[in-house]
Amino acid sequence: MVRQMKTSQLEIVAESQVDFPKPLDLFADAERCANVAVLECRDNLDFLRGQPGEKFKLVVTSPPYNIGKAYESRSPLDSYLESQAQVIRECVRVLHPQGSICWQVGNYTENGAIVPLDCLLFPIFRELGLQLRNRIVWHFGHGLHCRNRLSGRYETINWWTKSDDYTWHLDPIRVPSKYPGKRHFKGPRKGELSGNPKGKNPSDVWAFPNVKNNHPEKTIHPCQFPIELVERLVLALTDEQDDVLDPYVGVGSTVVAALMHKRNGYGCDIIEEYIDIARDRISDFLAGRLKTRPMGKPVYDPSLPNGGH
Ligand SMILES: C[S@@+](CC[C@H](N)C(=O)[O-])C[C@H]1O[C@@H](n2cnc3c(N)ncnc32)[C@H](O)[C@@H]1O
Repeated sequence: MVRQMKTSQLEIVAESQVDFPKPLDLFADAERCANVAVLECRDNLDFLRGQPGEKFKLVVTSPPYNIGKAYESRSPLDSYLESQAQVIRECVRVLHPQGSICWQVGNYTENGAIVPLDCLLFPIFRELGLQLRNRIVWHFGHGLHCRNRLSGRYETINWWTKSDDYTWHLDPIRVPSKYPGKRHFKGPRKGELSGNPKGKNPSDVWAFPNVKNNHPEKTIHPCQFPIELVERLVLALTDEQDDVLDPYVGVGSTVVAALMHKRNGYGCDIIEEYIDIARDRISDFLAGRLKTRPMGKPVYDPSLPNGGH
């Protein structure tokens, strides 16, 4: 069954076996959002095939890693890669000519040996004609403690573009310079500030806490994106009113990040409970009560007073 609720501010689309009696305050605060949010409980290939070509300025997602999480079943690596190829092919079709795909992955593991998924996915994107702009290392502090190898504390966000003419904004994602008052001490620019007063390029190594139990955004989802991570991609790779898609949307972090910055957010997931939570999070965001970790908040550092906060 397809239920659709529509106002000029927000559209929610959901396909489900059950009704969705949702709070009316979903649309309460028109000032907070003049954009569209589309969520469907549906397989992503079906969802993608229903979308027009070249629509989305940004596809940002984290697929299952084929490691047996609650929302996936493990399959032979070849068939996993073939199913990823099918979804990626559709994502490229719906990608705007100036658009970007950010595919966030970690490792598949086999008898204690790791297989970095981005290495295996690289040829799929290349054969589809995409260019890799950055392989961003996302470093986080929490995870399993390994006994026979070093504990894994990073995953990668592989930023691909469809053409050389891609949407890219550095200023909104600059971070504070290490020495903001530093000046040239000789030469024609002596005395002038040596760095950009707006801050520095955040580089391709990003430190954001992963969403574990004490994170303000934690839901029942075992692997949700920190919203601040998606915000950085949205701000750098899209303009206001652009369309942003997450084909493995989980509890809707990408859609929330898109709405926060006046973009349209689209997503699908096969698990109804996650879509329900995504809808509730959007509702909470629109009502001004969604708790998020603010962009730019320093990572907790136990060696500093109050953890540096
Ligand atoms: C790593 S999680 C993504 C979580 C998401 N980034 C968030 O912040 O909540 C992968 C998601 O893909 C969903 N999924 C798996 N196979 C799918 C499919 N064929 N179509 C749509 N979603 C799928 C799972 O239910 C799971 O929620």
